[in-house]
Amino acid sequence: MRFSIITLFGELIQPFCETALIRRAIERKIIEVDLINLRDFGVGKHRRVDDYPYGTSKGMILMAEPLKNAIKSIKHRNKYVVYTSPAGVPLNQRIIEDNLSRQKHIVIVAGRYKSIDQRFIDKHVDLEVSIGDYVLQGGEIPAVILLESVSRFVSGFLGDIDSAESDSFSKGFLDCPRYTRPYEFDKMKVPKILLSGNHKKIEEFEEEESLKLTFKRRRDLLDTLDLTKRQKEIIYRLTLEEKDGKVKH
Ligand code: ADE
Repeated sequence: MRFSIITLFGELIQPFCETALIRRAIERKIIEVDLINLRDFGVGKHRRVDDYPYGTSKGMILMAEPLKNAIKSIKHRNKYVVYTSPAGVPLNQRIIEDNLSRQKHIVIVAGRYKSIDQRFIDKHVDLEVSIGDYVLQGGEIPAVILLESVSRFVSGFLGDIDSAESDSFSKGFLDCPRYTRPYEFDKMKVPKILLSGNHKKIEEFEEEESLKLTFKRRRDLLDTLDLTKRQKEIIYRLTLEEKDGKVKH
C-alpha cells in the first residue's frame, strides 16, 4: 500500500517514518510513504500557497491551485484522496478497516492555516476526516494517525503476537483490561480465573469485562452492534446494577 502525504511540514512526519514498525514496514516494502512538499507547487516567485479569505474568516486559506498541482504530480491511478480537517467525518475503526485499509494508494492532504479552498475539496477529495472534536495547528499529526492506523491492516505489518484481532473496537467493544507478570504487584493480584487454564471460562470472563468497560465508557458503541443473547443478558444485568448504584464509573 502506498501513502502520499501532501504537507508544508514534512519534517514533522519524517521521524515517524524512521521509527519502530512503520520504519520496518517501509524497509520491507510492505508500505511506501512519500512526502510531497506543497511549497514546491506554490505560485509565483515566492511559491505562495495561501491567501486571504473571502467572507468573514480571519485566518489564511490554502489555495486550490498548488493543491491541485501537487495531486497532479502523483502519477499513479487509483488514488483515494483524504483531507484531514476538524470539519470532517469523525474517524473510527470502521472507516479505517472497511474503507481506508482496502485502498491501494491513499493521498493525505494535511491542511494548515484556517482551511483550504472548498473548490479543491469538492473536485479532488474523496473523504474529509476529523480525528476528534478539537482543533490542531495542522493536519500532520492526523496524517500520521491515518498512516499508522491504516498500516496495521496491511498484511505483514503486524507480527502474529500483536494481531489486530483483540484490539479495542475489533469486535465493536473496548478491549478488556490486560495483565502480565508478576501475578502480584503492589498487593494487587491478577484475576484468578486467568490462571485457571479453563479456556472457555477465560473467554467468557474477558467478554464480560469488555462489555462492562464499554457499558461504562462508550455506551454509544453498544447501540451499533448485533449483540448475542449472552451479551444482551450481561448488559441487562449491568443496567440493573447501575440502577442499584453498583456500577463504578
Ligand atoms: N486539523 C486540525 N484539527 C484537526 C482535527 N481535529 N482532525 C483532523 N485534522 C485536523
